[in-house]
Amino acid sequence: MKRRSFLLALGALPVAFMAAGAASGAERKILVACFSATGTTKGVASTIARTLGGDLYEIAPAQPYTAADLDWHDKASRSSLEMADAGARPAIAGALPDMARYGTVFIGYPIWWGIAPRIVQTFVERCDLKGKTVIPFCTSGGSAFAGSADLLIKAAPQAVWKDGRRLNAGASASGIASWAEELGIAR
Ligand SMILES: Cc1cc2nc3c(=O)[nH]c(=O)nc-3n(C[C@H](O)[C@H](O)[C@H](O)COP(=O)(O)O)c2cc1C
Repeated sequence: MKRRSFLLALGALPVAFMAAGAASGAERKILVACFSATGTTKGVASTIARTLGGDLYEIAPAQPYTAADLDWHDKASRSSLEMADAGARPAIAGALPDMARYGTVFIGYPIWWGIAPRIVQTFVERCDLKGKTVIPFCTSGGSAFAGSADLLIKAAPQAVWKDGRRLNAGASASGIASWAEELGIAR
């Protein structure tokens, strides 16, 4: 290589390093997205974000849920109607997160009738999760995590889905840190 072209190539190096750095930075960055109607899941999501150094994004419904909307004893309540309708996609308020900034995405939700609320399907369908590592988690009144994320996984088959889990309302930072270690997610 001639001296001049060698020097030119040398000049391009920092740019190449910067590009690589930006990519690996995005790969490491963690987003913790959650929907929470009464605050339990949001509490757990905040602990995950704080423990792992991630950004918290709340999936906020354009039309907030009232107590009457959440009445599962009432077959005609908004939540009962939405969960009975596989095509229901409640709208999300505000902007979606800039997914290009993240490599790992936790998605949290309360179990509603055994599965994730429909608004979480809205979120998964509207965000580009291709190639992201996605970890679902839930809170519930007792139901296990089981197949609660199956419809989400179906909606984003090009994401790398990890096994999800149910977390208790008071999930500890140390418990979350060891779960993250099992998942191979370093802080
Ligand atoms: C409409 C509705 C349906 C629910 N269905 C279930 C269920 O099938 N199994 C369960 O264990 N808990 C169920 N729950 C309880 C919630 O999953 C639980 O209280 C959860 O922790 C609430 O989280 P949040 O405060 O983040 O909304 C349901 C709650 C609502 C409002």
